[in-house]
Amino acid sequence: MAMDSFIYVIFGASGDLTKRKLVPAIYSLYVQNLLPENFTLLGVSRTGLTDEQFRMRMTTALEQFNETDNTDKIQEFAGKLFYSTLQYDDSQSYEKLWDRLISLKNINDVSENIIYYLSTPPELYGVIPQRLAEAKLNNQAEGWKRLIIEKPFGYDLTSALLLKDMLLKDWKEDQLYRIDHYLGKETVQNLMVTRFSNGIFEPLWNSKYIDHVEITSSESLGVEQRGGYYDKSGALRDMVQNHLLQLVALTAMEPPATAQPAAIRNEILKVFQSLRPIDKDMVRDVALRGQYLSSTIGGTDVKGYRNEEGVRQDSKTETYVALKFYIDNWRWGGVPFYIRTGKRLPTRVTEVIIHFKPTPHSLFSGQTNCSSCNQLVMRIQPDEGILLKFGMKIPGAGFEVQNVNMEFHYSGLSEQRIPSAYERLIFDSIKGDPTLFARSEELIEAWKFLMPVLEVWRDNEEIPLHGYPSGTWGPENADDFIVKDGTGWRYPCENLADNGKYCEL
Ligand SMILES: NC(=O)c1ccc[n+]([C@@H]2O[C@H](COP(=O)([O-])OP(=O)(O)OC[C@H]3O[C@@H](n4cnc5c(N)ncnc54)[C@H](OP(=O)(O)O)[C@@H]3O)[C@@H](O)[C@H]2O)c1
Repeated sequence: MAMDSFIYVIFGASGDLTKRKLVPAIYSLYVQNLLPENFTLLGVSRTGLTDEQFRMRMTTALEQFNETDNTDKIQEFAGKLFYSTLQYDDSQSYEKLWDRLISLKNINDVSENIIYYLSTPPELYGVIPQRLAEAKLNNQAEGWKRLIIEKPFGYDLTSALLLKDMLLKDWKEDQLYRIDHYLGKETVQNLMVTRFSNGIFEPLWNSKYIDHVEITSSESLGVEQRGGYYDKSGALRDMVQNHLLQLVALTAMEPPATAQPAAIRNEILKVFQSLRPIDKDMVRDVALRGQYLSSTIGGTDVKGYRNEEGVRQDSKTETYVALKFYIDNWRWGGVPFYIRTGKRLPTRVTEVIIHFKPTPHSLFSGQTNCSSCNQLVMRIQPDEGILLKFGMKIPGAGFEVQNVNMEFHYSGLSEQRIPSAYERLIFDSIKGDPTLFARSEELIEAWKFLMPVLEVWRDNEEIPLHGYPSGTWGPENADDFIVKDGTGWRYPCENLADNGKYCEL
């Protein structure tokens, strides 16, 4: 099928995301011949740059961040990049932008299809679409117009609702692509494929056979250069509201009737709608927050969170969060979900662990010691793959049982390079496939769900914000949080098959 020609407009093109992720992802599509021949990209921001200066910047960025092994086409690709300065809130700037777009359309013989990517600070996610609409740059009479919005979508429920209304005043839902780069990861999509392309998992995928579900997304880095942004956000907003709840939805959703975007997104939305509301009186029991402290990791001193650049000295922002909650529907009734995320933990890992119920009766001696048996680990990153842990007889007399691993590593599946999440999502937005983009209702439901925690934490200073030394698995009482329910966290290592609290140290 021939692809529509289009112009790709990036707002905030002088920024970090453009050079590190967006342009490398688009270059990768270019070298695979997945873009139309007359592809045109226009970067816009306030910074004064000529086309040539922008091309030089992006060439340098590609030399550093190119995700392919092809560097031959960088110069040719750079010739398709253009730049315009723009004041985000100034109507006249948008009239000039329109003139520039028409001129590029005529020179490069492109259709009037346009993708606007908002890669700016989130405060501008309302203003830019509004100004575009006022200047009629959202008009689809002569070609489609799509808007890609980076996270975060709002700061809380009120601001997310405001943003939603502001966007839907001038844009149709099917023009909006709210990006959550987790959904662009192959292994996240594979959650759906593993569940719904095999007959063996679905019969067990319910409260009758599953004891609990655990999701971990740990980062070994601190806030790096994003301290100013992060300090106003925190782990709950930055990770749970979007990435972790999307993982919950893909793990818990019902099989859609078809693989059509609407069918998949409807099932995802139903999970968000089934999250049991968190009672404010229960927040102390079901939510745990922490903040990393200075420490020495592998002989190197690392700063505590409050000493990071851009972070307030008395900051109460959480860099670690653990949550326990339920999904009130037929499939998941009574099954607890435990999720946790944090910065400056021992390793960078994201995984979903299905803990199956033990056998109703222990036949064999030693069986009860096999605490990590009966688990299915779906590893999102790194060492992407699937691990099944189950009990086996130890050779010799008697019936001693020990855990064994059956593991599949994604890297062994194909020689093919795994595309980056941005590459996949940008390509989908070009094709007009919204499957892997979040709908506004999902994001609103996610905010509704988390608001009691955010409000109780904000209003009750006495609720502890536990310090944890950098390089450890969070606050000391993070273990009690789950052990009191008769279970424990899995402590993942970089290698899928390994686990243990100290494996990275
Ligand atoms: N970087 C990442 O890895 C990453 C990951 C996920 C999501 N995001 C989100 O993606 C968006 C872009 O990220 P980024 O890292 O590229 O951001 P950035 O570098 O801080 O900002 C992008 C551009 O926006 C303009 N800008 C910055 N501050 C502004 C202000 N106060 N008022 C108006 N314009 C301002 C600047 O361009 P001009 O001054 O030239 O106008 C800047 O080059 C952000 O919303 C971020 O939350 C980023």
